Parts: sequence; structure tokens; C-alpha cells
Amino acid sequence: NSVPGGFVCMDASEIERVAVLGAGNMGHGITEVVAIAGYDVTMRDVEEEFVDSGYEDIEWSLDKLDEKGRIDESADDVLDRIDITTDLETAVGDVDLVIEAAPERMALKQEIYGELDDFTPDDAILASNTSSLSITEIATAVDDPERVVGTHFFNPPVKMDLVEVIYGERTSDETAEAAHAFVESLDKTPIYVRKDVQGFVVNSVLGPFMVEPAWMVSNSEATIQEADAAMVHQRGYPMGPFELGDLTGIDIGYSVREEAGIENPPLIEEKVEAEELGRKTGKGYYDYEEGEGADYE
Ligand code: 3HC
Repeated sequence: NSVPGGFVCMDASEIERVAVLGAGNMGHGITEVVAIAGYDVTMRDVEEEFVDSGYEDIEWSLDKLDEKGRIDESADDVLDRIDITTDLETAVGDVDLVIEAAPERMALKQEIYGELDDFTPDDAILASNTSSLSITEIATAVDDPERVVGTHFFNPPVKMDLVEVIYGERTSDETAEAAHAFVESLDKTPIYVRKDVQGFVVNSVLGPFMVEPAWMVSNSEATIQEADAAMVHQRGYPMGPFELGDLTGIDIGYSVREEAGIENPPLIEEKVEAEELGRKTGKGYYDYEEGEGADYE
């Protein structure tokens, strides 16, 4: 795995210890998937309450999977492989792979990668779960951009099969191939995204599907329920765009568009302003506290 420029990259088969940065929807879901696959994994977030809440979500999810016989061992056996911390150096000091799932702000990501450069072993792979930020730009924060790659999971990671493995301009083949093999070891299906384009493959296609209906509702041309019903019953999607927005977090798509300089429809602006962000806040386009959920059938 020797690469011109001197970087000797971790081989996928050598990956044993993994750190996941971020305990939000994606961070805790990825942590769970990695632990189910048999790796030791440390989940880190900046506040104890975030880490604890992510850990509780993992417990909930593992119990569900256990009840349904979808994991080969007990939920406790999987949990035994998960450590949690708020300390970055503790999380990444001795790892083979870091998967970063921090909020989608370039300045924040670059600050984190600057710290990773100081704290991680030199041969560790640094993988970002960014939805839409440039891997190339994130990688400018480390001395050796060859070891930075995108690994973009989908929500909820435990249920979604696909993972995009994204090349930044300076990602080495060895790093991308190790990330690809690692994703396969999670029993997921990786696809390479060889150009670091805005939104990669999936979100480039999914973006308009999410935003166009929000313009229609903002312009009183359709209701939330009508748009969701149309996409489920006519297009055969598993969820309507608004139901999906509630699942992924309305603020996530909002920040992606902000970073990309794309105008957010008024409906989305209003939801973010009111902090009605979807399932995670109990209310979004639909109300989850009242137990209604997405009621467009
Ligand atoms: N862990 C364990 N169980 C879970 C779970 C989780 N994380 N999430 C849901 N479940 C459980 C539910 O509680 C429910 O259990 P119950 O039957 O005991 O009540 C069950 O799974 C749900 O099963 P359903 O039969 O209702 O639903 P399906 O399993 O058929 O599908 C789905 C659920 C996979 C979420 C499906 O609706 C789907 O594919 N939706 C679209 C999701 C999607 O497109 N995600 C990508 C978003 S974009 C993204 O992430 C990109 C990023 O960059 C923003």
C-alpha cells in the first residue's frame, strides 16, 4: 500500500478499530452498523448529552433488530463493542479508520480534520460522511490528502444498503479501495463516485425530488399530503419527499442548500426557523408527538 508521496495506507483487512465523529442520526446509525459487523468502535460527540442520546438510539434500534432476529448475537454483545466519549484524542488516538459525521459546515469540518491530523496515527484513513461538501476541500486541512475519502451512508444507516465511496481530487486509489472493501465488510453495497461533484450521485438526483414539492406547497400548488401521496402511489417510492425530510431532518437539506448557494423554499425556511425539524424534534411537516406521523395514505 505504498503510495507516491510516501503515505502508507491502512489496508481494509487491517482495520480493527474505528472512530465515528458525531452521535446524531447518521453518526449513531453508522456506529451501530460498524459494531454489528464486529468492529470495535468509539462514538464521539462534543457534548455528553449528544453522546448519551445517540447511544440510547442505538440501544433502541438494536433491541428492535434483536426482537426481529435480524442480528446474530444479542444487543448487549454488540453494545460491548461500542465506547462513547467527548474527547477527540481518546476517540481517534489509536484507530485505523475515522468516519466523520459532523454537521455540514465546511469551516467546522476543516477544523476537525486539522485536529485529526494531530491526533490520528499517520496511516489511519479519514472518511467523511458528508452529503454534499467537497472531499477535496475538506482534505486541504490535513498534511496528506491521499488518506481522505468520502463514505456517504444513507438514513437510516442500519436499513439502507447503499454507501457512496467518494474520491477527492487527491484521494489515493489505495484509500478508496480500502474504504470500498470496508463498506463491503459491513454487508453494504458500495459504489465509487470518482468525481467530487456537488451532491455526489444520490443527492444530485434526490435534491430536486425533495425541493420541488416544497416550492409547490410554498406556492399553494399542492399540499404536503398530496405531494407525498403522489410520489408514493404514482412513483412507488418508499416514502414521500416530506415524510423523508422529516426522517432525515429538515435542517440537513436546508444547510446543504445554504452551503451550495441554492435558495430554500419559504416552507423549508419557516420549518427551520420554528425549529420544527422532523422526527427528531417531534414535529416537522407531520406531527410525531401526537402519534400521527405521516398521514397521507
Ligand atoms: N433500527 C431498527 N429498526 C428500525 C429503525 C432503525 N433505525 N428504523 C425503523 N425501524 C423499524 C420501525 O420501528 C418499524 O418497526 P415495527 O414494524 O416493529 O414498528 C420498522 O423498522 C419499519 O418497518 P416498515 O415496514 O415500516 O418500513 P421498512 O422497513 O419497509 O422501510 C425504510 C423503512 C427503510 C426507512 C423505508 O421507508 C425507506 O427506504 N425510506 C426511504 C429512506 C431513504 O430514502 N433514505 C435516504 C435519505 S437521503 C440521505 O440519507 C442522504 C443524506 O445525505 C441526507
